[in-house]
Amino acid sequence: MPGSTPSKGTAILWSGRLEEKPAPQAFAFQSSIMVDKRLVFEDIQGSRAHAVMLGKQGIIPQDTAAALDAELARIAQDLESGSLLVDLGAEDIHSFIEGVLTSRLGDAGRMVHAGRSRNDQVATDLRLYLKHRVPDVCGELRETIQALLDHAETYADALMPGYTHLQRAQPITLGHHLVAWCTGLVRDLGRFTDALARLDTCPLGAGALAGSGLPLDREATAQALGFSGPTLNSMDSVADRDFALELAGAAAITMTHLSRFCEDIVIWASEEFKFITLAESWSTGSSIMPQKQNPDFAELIRGKAGRTAGNLVCLLTLLKGLPYAYDKDLQEDKEALFDSLDTVCTCLSMFRGMLCTASFNQERMEGALIGGFLEATDAAEYLVRKGLPFRSAHEVAALVVRDCIAHGQRSITDRTLEELKKRSLLFEADIYHALSPGACVKARNGAGGPAPEEVRRQIGVLRAHIHR
Ligand code: ARG
Repeated sequence: MPGSTPSKGTAILWSGRLEEKPAPQAFAFQSSIMVDKRLVFEDIQGSRAHAVMLGKQGIIPQDTAAALDAELARIAQDLESGSLLVDLGAEDIHSFIEGVLTSRLGDAGRMVHAGRSRNDQVATDLRLYLKHRVPDVCGELRETIQALLDHAETYADALMPGYTHLQRAQPITLGHHLVAWCTGLVRDLGRFTDALARLDTCPLGAGALAGSGLPLDREATAQALGFSGPTLNSMDSVADRDFALELAGAAAITMTHLSRFCEDIVIWASEEFKFITLAESWSTGSSIMPQKQNPDFAELIRGKAGRTAGNLVCLLTLLKGLPYAYDKDLQEDKEALFDSLDTVCTCLSMFRGMLCTASFNQERMEGALIGGFLEATDAAEYLVRKGLPFRSAHEVAALVVRDCIAHGQRSITDRTLEELKKRSLLFEADIYHALSPGACVKARNGAGGPAPEEVRRQIGVLRAHIHR
């Protein structure tokens, strides 16, 4: 079992104090290498900045600092080429890198940890990692938003029913529906970029919790690592993981959005709706029912939203009882956060693949506009325009709908003008045009509405937003 026992030659950084080592299984239990091996290059980057700073500040000899820097660069190369493998028997990635450095450079390697602790090291590594991983998520979000906006433009005039309570409500367009999805994703993008801006300070030099008496230059390491500056307070630097909460929150919200979009898609792909046909390559069959074409991708994305909600709860629960400053519980932060970011990245890309290869069945969507009296609200608004108070107009329209049902008619426009006039004398011949689905949608051209030109304006606003 990898990670089950400290490998020969792998340093245990605290072995001076404790003569007795944990049993192999206990050592494996507290080891984090299987998760934090992902931070190997950030750990090297942080160590290089730290070593160079130690040399510049005269804390270690300049030539030792140079040797450490060069050897760390070689270790990175060796890992990249595959000539060096991460030792899964090491306690964590920090012990592994310091161990390799010391095995190659001897005493020089033993100088690198002056003025730092694994507590500030891991906090630095994680933030460094997020500074390039979060932009990946943002890239996936941008591409997904763009794909949805392209579709929204294509279908800005495509009529379909809008639903409340999953009951036909009012006519909208597919473009309007897709922009509704997109608007949420644009806010998600904002949440990730905000969190990224807030985590952009460097914990290195915060030490275990209380900094160091050595003359560290925290400004220099922060700058070398591309942070806007050093963190303000050393205890906060090693104790807090609110940036992980924010990102796990942003991931859970994005996944909740995707999950709802997928729910729409699953419904639309049913025989009952048939608004969408998923590509065969983005569907799956059944092992027993030969006829099946199932929307498994949509369902799986919907299902994976649960993991990200769980990860967020995991992190909140992890932090809520922790005494300041560092506690080993914090080691559990990475697995949940990595999983959330991986999940949201993959799901965004899968969602795009599924959506961009699907075809929308406009005839079915338009057909669904007949029969549910989706024009009833517009009939009421027609009467309001003619001076009737809305509550009375609502009653008139409701009575007309009842008349239709009583006569087996499927639309208000199936009634003759004489019949309509029995309910209100305000009805005129222009009612028949006003209640066509196209006219109903066109009339709702106020800010946020489904009218095609208004949806095109919304698309423009979102496009400008994501290109900022
Ligand atoms: N693996 C640890 C983590 O992820 C690194 C810090 C260990 N610090 C300690 N005092 N044991 O949090």
